[in-house]
Amino acid sequence: MILVTGASGTIGRHVVQLLRQSGQPVRAMTRARPGHAMPPGVDVVQADFEDPASLRRAVADVRAVFLLTAPATPTPDHDLALLTEARAARVGSVVKLSAIGTGERFGSATVGAWHQTAEDAVRTSDLSWTVLRPSAFASNCLHWSGAIRAGQPVSNMTGDGAQGVIDPRDIAAVAVAALTDPAHAGKTYTLTGPELLSVPDQARQLAEVIGRPVVSVDVPSTSASQQLLSSGMPPAAVEATVIGTAWARAGHNRILTEDVATVLARPPATFRDWAQRHREAFIGTP
Ligand SMILES: NC(=O)c1ccc[n+]([C@@H]2O[C@H](COP(=O)([O-])OP(=O)(O)OC[C@H]3O[C@@H](n4cnc5c(N)ncnc54)[C@H](OP(=O)(O)O)[C@@H]3O)[C@@H](O)[C@H]2O)c1
Repeated sequence: MILVTGASGTIGRHVVQLLRQSGQPVRAMTRARPGHAMPPGVDVVQADFEDPASLRRAVADVRAVFLLTAPATPTPDHDLALLTEARAARVGSVVKLSAIGTGERFGSATVGAWHQTAEDAVRTSDLSWTVLRPSAFASNCLHWSGAIRAGQPVSNMTGDGAQGVIDPRDIAAVAVAALTDPAHAGKTYTLTGPELLSVPDQARQLAEVIGRPVVSVDVPSTSASQQLLSSGMPPAAVEATVIGTAWARAGHNRILTEDVATVLARPPATFRDWAQRHREAFIGTP
């Protein structure tokens, strides 16, 4: 049995689907009540990273875990809680979803500090491990859909900072490879798409795909903090987000790697591919 955490989210959903398609037994973890929609044949476990007893049930008879945490405020506690139960249950391996730039110093700050603590715990656990460090998800621009449908500009918090924007399906495909092939044990993969794109570049490509203008407006870090705080994001999460966007704005995420192509033996999907598959999200009325 392979346990997929974050199974209802952007990456986890694809991991569950791809594992099922390859005939692997899958257990999907969600906090939702039983009956939560998952593909047929998937074992669903109701569990919460904050409830150790529920994690114990989630890891029972599991040989590998896809570990994806998305705490509302940055903390490695969810990763650490799952690792504790996985070790006790003698789970064989863990594939940890982290983020590009994790642990890099940027001025007086550290990028992805909470992921770094979690990565360290994964590497020093007695489980076999693989760490995935993806670049910016193509799906982040789904946040723009309301503004685009309403004919309004979209916010650009990273200026001209280009990033190796990646299709979530490629991240999931690499995760599935790591969960099912021991050749990936002990590896840290930095996962990027095939081209460096700034937000204005993405806006241009999206506009071509959907056939209507997409205008981006630069939001400097100070205004970004205010915008995110007023959206209700917890202050610690705002701080971590603004460190990440300032780091990308300064050009530190101008990184392309061959890791997706090496693991999957095919090139990563382009942002345009992703936009074509999701064009419906950006058209129609708000
Ligand atoms: N967005 C990017 O560009 C980017 C780039 C690099 C790395 N990352 C990393 O990617 C991760 C986010 O991945 P994602 O976008 O796939 O996440 P997501 O779509 O936000 O989904 C996260 C899932 O986690 C589950 N969850 C949240 N709190 C939980 C809890 N207390 N107990 C159990 N489950 C919980 C939720 O499932 P239920 O509601 O069903 O319980 C949710 O579906 C983060 O670690 C982030 O740092 C993101």
